[in-house]
Amino acid sequence: MARILITSALPYINGIKHLGNLVGSQLPADLYARYNRGRGHEVMFLCATDEHGTPAELAAAKAGKPVADYCAEMHEVQADIAKRFGLSFDHYGRSSSPQNHALTQHFAGKLEEAGLITEVSEKQVYSNADGRFLPDRYIEGTCPNCGFEKARGDQCEECTKQLDPTDLINPRSAISGSTDLEVRETKHLFLRQSAMRDQLDQWIDSKTDWPVLTTSIAKKWLHDGDGLQDRGITRDLDWGIAVKKGTEDWPGMEGKVFYVWFDAPIEYIAAAGEWAEAHGKSDADWERWWRTDKGADNVKYVQFMGKDNVPFHTLSFPATLLGSGEPWKMVDHLKSFNYLNYDGGQFSTSQGRGVFMDQALEILPSDYWRWWLLSHAPESSDAEFTWENFQQSVNKDLADVLGNFVSRITKFCRSKFGEQVPEGGAWGEQEQALIEELSTRIGAYERHMEAMEVRKSAQELRAIWVAGNEYLQSAAPWSVFKEDPERAAGQVRLGLNLIRLYAVLSAPFIPDASDRLFEALGTEDRDWPEDVAAALAALPAGHAFTVPEVLFAKITDEQREEWQARFAGGRDA
Ligand code: 2FM
Ligand code: ZN
Repeated sequence: MARILITSALPYINGIKHLGNLVGSQLPADLYARYNRGRGHEVMFLCATDEHGTPAELAAAKAGKPVADYCAEMHEVQADIAKRFGLSFDHYGRSSSPQNHALTQHFAGKLEEAGLITEVSEKQVYSNADGRFLPDRYIEGTCPNCGFEKARGDQCEECTKQLDPTDLINPRSAISGSTDLEVRETKHLFLRQSAMRDQLDQWIDSKTDWPVLTTSIAKKWLHDGDGLQDRGITRDLDWGIAVKKGTEDWPGMEGKVFYVWFDAPIEYIAAAGEWAEAHGKSDADWERWWRTDKGADNVKYVQFMGKDNVPFHTLSFPATLLGSGEPWKMVDHLKSFNYLNYDGGQFSTSQGRGVFMDQALEILPSDYWRWWLLSHAPESSDAEFTWENFQQSVNKDLADVLGNFVSRITKFCRSKFGEQVPEGGAWGEQEQALIEELSTRIGAYERHMEAMEVRKSAQELRAIWVAGNEYLQSAAPWSVFKEDPERAAGQVRLGLNLIRLYAVLSAPFIPDASDRLFEALGTEDRDWPEDVAAALAALPAGHAFTVPEVLFAKITDEQREEWQARFAGGRDA
C-alpha cells in the first residue's frame, strides 16, 4: 500500500467557480484521489479556499460585508458546492486558518534566519482619509490615454492601457473617493529567490517524469531574461497574515501582511494541520504526510493546477520550502492543465461568462458534468465546451453505452429469471475472449490513471463499457434463451457481474452512478478487479438485486437549446 498526498490549487474565495476552474484542478485531483483509494492506497487529499489579497477585500466591499464575514460565508458556499460535485477532499480548509497564520509566520522566520529575506524601500500611494496605503487597483482616476474617468491605477479598462498610479489624472481612492493622497516611502520584505536559482534548477532537473508543459514553464521562468527575480512577499493591506518572524514581531513591518501568494501554498501544509484538529488527531498524524523526517519520505506528493499556477508551484513555493532549511515534503509530480473555453470564447468570472458550478448542478446531476469535463480535459491543448458536444457525449457514452447495458441486463434477468443472479451454465469461448479483452483494457486504464492521463483514462473506460455492450449484442441471451435457457442464464450472470465491475472501475469518474449501481446490486464489494475472471464471479448465483432507475437520462434538443439560450447572456459577476 502506497501513501499518496494530493493537493488541488486553492480556489480564490471571491465567488463561485466556473467549470473551467473546476476541470483545471479540483476535478482531476478528485479523480486521482478516488482512483488511488479504490486501489487500496492511503490517500490524503487536501484543498482549501484562498482567502487573502486584494480580490477578497474588493469582493467583500462590493458585498457590503466585513471581509472576515464575507470569507466565512463564501467558504461555506464553496465547500457545499464542492461536496455536491462529489469532490472527496479529506479536508477542505481555509488559508485564513490559525494553522496557516502560524505556519506562514514560521516559514518567514526560517527564511530570515537563512539570510534569504531583504528589506526594500518603495514609494507607494497613501490615502490620508482611509488611513492606509492603496494597492494600484484601489486608486482610480482619469486615463491619460483615452480620458476614461474610472481608470484603475494598474490598467484602464476602457482602452486597456497598462498604467502606473502616478499616470492617473485627478487620482482618488477607490475605497472612499478621497483625493487626499500622497506618495510615501514604505518598506517591504523580498524573498531572495535569485540566491536559490541553482538549487531550484537542480531540483527541477531531478523531475524527469514531469510533463513537458510543466518543465518548460518552470525552465522559462528560471532562465529567461528577468526570470527568477526576488519577490516581494509583503503588502500594505489590513486583511491577511500579520508579518512576523515566527511568533516574534518584525520591527518596521507593523501593520503589514504577507502577500497572498506567499501564504496560499503554505496552506497546503496547514490544511493537514486543520484536518488533524478536526479529527482529534495529533501533530504526528499530519506531519507524517509533510515532514520527511517524520515519515513523509515515502509519500508520493502530486499537485493539480491550471498552467497559470505552474510558476508559483515550481519556483516560488519550492523556494519557500527549500529556503527554510527544514525537511518538508516537496512535490513529486505536478499535473497542469490548459484552459477550457466556453462556446467560442473564454470562461470569465468577471464577465459571468460560461457555466458556474452552482448553475451546472441546477441543470443536471454532477456525474453528467464530471464525465464530460474529465473526458474532455484540456490536457495537450486548450479545449472547448459546447452544448452540442455535451449533449452528444452524455447521450452516447453515458445513456447509450453504460446506461443501456445496465438496463438491458437487469430487465432481461428480471423478466426471465427473477431478481436474483441466475445459476446458469459454464462460460465458453465468447466469455473467455471478453475476459481477455477486459484484462488488457483494465491494464491500460490503470496505466493511464497512474500517469494522470485523464482523457486517455476516460477513453479506455468507455471502451470497457463498449466491450460489454458488444458482448451482449453478440451473445444475445434473449435469442439463446429460447433454445438453451441454461446458457442464457450463464450469460446473464456474467452481465450482472460486469455491472459490478463497471461500478468499481467507473467510480472515480461518476461516483454517484456507481453508488446507485452498488445499491441496485445489493453489494458493498468494491474490490478492484486484480483478476477479471475472479471479479466476474463476485456475485454468486442466488444473489438478489433490483433493477435500478434510469442511470442517465438523455439530453433532448429542446433542453440543449434552452440551456444554450439561458447561458448566452452571462450572469452578474
Ligand atoms: O489561481 C488561483 O486560483 C489561486 N487561488 C491558486 C492558489 S494555489 C496555491 F498555491 F494556493
Ligand atoms: Zn484609457
